Amino acid sequence: MTAREKFPGLSYKSKVAFVTGGGSGIGRETALTLADLGADVAILDWTAGAAAQTVREVEKIGRKAVAFEGDAGDEKIVVDAFASARRQLGDIDVAVACAGVLGRGGPVFETSVDDFEQVMGVNVRGSFLVVREAAKEMRKRKQGAIVLLSSLDGLQAEHGMFSYCVSKGALLNMARAAALDLARDRVTVNCVCPSVTYTPLLAGRLATLPNGDEVLASYAQRHPLGRVLTPRDIASAIAFVASPIANGITGAAIPVDAGIGATWDNFRDPAWLNS
Ligand SMILES: NC(=O)c1ccc[n+]([C@@H]2O[C@H](COP(=O)([O-])OP(=O)(O)OC[C@H]3O[C@@H](n4cnc5c(N)ncnc54)[C@H](O)[C@@H]3O)[C@@H](O)[C@H]2O)c1
Repeated sequence: MTAREKFPGLSYKSKVAFVTGGGSGIGRETALTLADLGADVAILDWTAGAAAQTVREVEKIGRKAVAFEGDAGDEKIVVDAFASARRQLGDIDVAVACAGVLGRGGPVFETSVDDFEQVMGVNVRGSFLVVREAAKEMRKRKQGAIVLLSSLDGLQAEHGMFSYCVSKGALLNMARAAALDLARDRVTVNCVCPSVTYTPLLAGRLATLPNGDEVLASYAQRHPLGRVLTPRDIASAIAFVASPIANGITGAAIPVDAGIGATWDNFRDPAWLNS
């Protein structure tokens, strides 16, 4: 037994993080949370100006940041962004693959090959490229943490979201397979699996519905905590699992789901409790 050391708490002091999809929603909040905790951050996003905007917000926190604009599913873009981030900020300690798309949606019998390939190209190939580029250097240094954004749609499935559910399910085993390949190098790979989270992605989906507000309220009701998740809820879990205090966790799928995974039914107060 070695002597007990004081619990170090959650700190990213002197760490460098790389976040894809860091221009919006969960990725943006992750970049800002890691910066709050002391990290410098590289951000890759394909929406014009989005990564640069998050960089300005990170700089306001007092940390260094660099922006890359491009497709996280494109091998050359990701390889070049990792190399440039390393040159500008130093070795990458944490990599988070947040870039993700829903695709057109729809059931399997209406899914086009184009839609399937687009969703797999961003969500699965994009995550693979982050894992590979991060792993190459992290394993030499015998340290590092990689986090993939799966979903409750990866742990279970949602009717009418075929391509998305397939892509998010694939990430669970990507994390396990990579976790095993990297375990003896002391690099961890985990999935965080959010349920419904109020981000521009969700707001955009709700805006296509005539009754988006009602749908949002019903999502909140169906979660035992009585609310949907916030980007902060998800970024907090990412910050924990990618930190040195969580280095005993690898190959895991961590739900952040306001309790919905605990119930087999849509949660509601049973009539007999109120009678
Ligand atoms: N919002 C939810 O309810 C929810 C639930 C479960 C999982 N997730 C996952 O969390 C991740 C983030 O989702 P969000 O809700 O914050 O979405 P968002 O749309 O608000 O943000 C995603 C960001 O990723 C960027 N992006 C998308 N495809 C890209 C690509 N090919 N290359 C570079 N950048 C790209 C977008 O420009 C955007 O800035 C996604 O992987 C999503 O599937 C979201």
